[in-house]
Amino acid sequence: MKSNIVLIGFMGSGKSITGKLLAYRLGYSFVDTDTAIEQEYKTKIKDMFAKEGEAIFRQRETATIQKLAQKSHQVISTGGGVATKETDMQELRKNGIVIALTAMPHTILKRTGNDKRPLLAKKSNEERLKTIIELMAKRTPFYKKADLIIKTDDTTPLQNVEIIMKYLKGVK
Ligand code: S3P
Repeated sequence: MKSNIVLIGFMGSGKSITGKLLAYRLGYSFVDTDTAIEQEYKTKIKDMFAKEGEAIFRQRETATIQKLAQKSHQVISTGGGVATKETDMQELRKNGIVIALTAMPHTILKRTGNDKRPLLAKKSNEERLKTIIELMAKRTPFYKKADLIIKTDDTTPLQNVEIIMKYLKGVK
C-alpha cells in the first residue's frame, strides 16, 4: 500500500486546509511544498519569484519534492504547478496516492487574495480571473491524471476529508 497522500490542484482549491485535516485524521505528518521551500531557502515564495524568478523557484520545488517523496506517511500538499511536472509526479506516485482538488474559476477568484501568490498578483479582479481561466485550461489535463478528483466549489474541507477517507477505505 502506498503510504503518502499527495494533493494536487489549482491555487485556492483547498489543498492546504484539507491536507492538514486529513493528516490529523490519518495520524500522518502534513507537509506543504511551498512551506518546505520557504523554510529551506529562508525566503518567501513571493520574494523568490521577484528576486530570483520563477525558473529558480521551479528548480527548488523539484529538489524539495525529490526529498519529500523518499519519506512516508505524509499528506503532501503541492503548489499548483507541481502536477504539470511529469518527473516530479512520477517520483511522488511511487509511494503516493494522488488526489486532485478542483474548483471553478470564480470560486478560485473568491478564495485567492492578491498578496502571497505571485502568479495571481494582478491589480483588478478581471485580470486575475483571466489569468485563472487561462492557467486552469493549461493545467486541467494534468490535474485529471489524479487517482481521485474532488470538486470543492460546494464542499467544506471536512467534507473533502470524508470523501478521501471513503476512497482510501476502498483502495486498501
Ligand atoms: C503556484 C502555486 C502556489 C505556489 C506558487 C506557484 C502555481 O501554491 O507554489 O505561487 O504555479 O500554481 P498554491 O497552489 O499552494 O497556492
